[in-house]
Amino acid sequence: MEAVGQAILVLPEGIQSDPNCSGYLPDCFIAVLQSKPDSKFTQQELPACKPILTPKWVVSAFMIIAIVFIPIGIACLLGSRDVVEVVERYETKCIPAANINNKVQYIQNSDANKNCTIQMKIPKRMKKPIYVYYQLDNFYQNHRRYVKSRSDKQLKSSKNENDTSSCKPENLATGGGAIVPCGLIAWSLFNDTYSFSLQKNNQSLAVNKKGIAWKSDKQKRFGKDVYPKNFQGGGLKGGGDLNVSVPLSEQEDLMVWMRTAALPTFRKLYGKIEVDLEANETINVTLQNNYNTYSFNGKKKLVLSTTSWIGGRNDFLGIAYLTVGMICLALAIGFTVVYFVKPRRLGDPTFLSWNRGPGSH
Ligand SMILES: *[C@@H]1O[C@H](CO)[C@@H](O)[C@H](O)[C@H]1NC(C)=O
Ligand SMILES: *[C@@H]1O[C@H](CO)[C@@H](O)[C@H](O)[C@H]1NC(C)=O
Ligand SMILES: *[C@@H]1O[C@H](CO)[C@@H](O)[C@H](O)[C@H]1NC(C)=O
Ligand SMILES: *[C@@H]1O[C@H](CO)[C@@H](O)[C@H](O)[C@H]1NC(C)=O
Repeated sequence: MEAVGQAILVLPEGIQSDPNCSGYLPDCFIAVLQSKPDSKFTQQELPACKPILTPKWVVSAFMIIAIVFIPIGIACLLGSRDVVEVVERYETKCIPAANINNKVQYIQNSDANKNCTIQMKIPKRMKKPIYVYYQLDNFYQNHRRYVKSRSDKQLKSSKNENDTSSCKPENLATGGGAIVPCGLIAWSLFNDTYSFSLQKNNQSLAVNKKGIAWKSDKQKRFGKDVYPKNFQGGGLKGGGDLNVSVPLSEQEDLMVWMRTAALPTFRKLYGKIEVDLEANETINVTLQNNYNTYSFNGKKKLVLSTTSWIGGRNDFLGIAYLTVGMICLALAIGFTVVYFVKPRRLGDPTFLSWNRGPGSH
């Protein structure tokens, strides 16, 4: 060991005795290097890939990218265009004209009639299953204190029903008993309801609400022996109620709601309509406008959507593929043109800066 200023240098045997290593650090490093035999590493002769980008090579690389990306982009766009989606915003429409200036009081008044009927026109034939989503805008389910306000242990097993410390302030009922399910997420459960019927013959369309939650939630995360207790019992009601005789593992709306969204605009599955809807048909939606998004200017939308192989409607992927493909195609064509119009000998030394111009030497 040799102390050099603050640094401690561990030197191999033999170096310490090197006359060059006088305790001055750079000298000692040189001594270390000199003590090693010549190798490919010290001589910087390790094998390396040094591709020569000839015009043909570059043009064919761009062409291959274009040929692969453009068809994928077209297929993605067609898949996305196959999806039929109907969106209806209703949070303002469903406020009676008399209450338009005091929306918050109206929505918090439990005696007011919250029923509301809206129409949705089907633009194109929709094949079953038709997914029904509700969409909220400006709702920050990703807030740190909101996301953490839950108790996964409590949701999983009735043995942990008193494990509510992570759920403050929605952890204990006024009497002192634990709230099950506890926490702000469960407390703010979405509670608008929808029912659908065809306008032409007033025939109702059943909404299947089974199978909307993730399988892993039903089987592992929400217990079969956990029943709601003291839920929404406090002074201020945050959202929907739960049926106390149904275990959490079958409360699919709660499971969907508790998969918190990452962005302030999100859709959550409400159910599925399992019949086809024809083009130009009008659907009457009878809805209960219960949920308070008026305090924070949130929007509420109802969405009916089919799916294709690509999933829901999303043009972004197709456009991204097409853009990259098109840019590569343009570059390939550009380089080809340059190559034929103004060709240049490869590795021509006259282009080197010191071979160019009169003042060169
Ligand atoms: C939870 O606490 C209540 C009262 O504080 C008690 O009656 C109940 O047995 C406890 N539950 C469990 C699973 O320990
Ligand atoms: C449609 O049917 C519902 C019950 O299914 C009934 O209450 C309502 O009055 C009917 N509407 C019309 C326009 O027939
Ligand atoms: C629905 O949720 C709101 C809060 O957003 C609450 O004030 C209202 O009482 C709830 N209504 C029902 C029927 O659960
Ligand atoms: C739907 O309505 C449009 C315009 O009103 C019409 O051109 C079209 O043929 C209709 N489609 C069906 C399937 O009735």
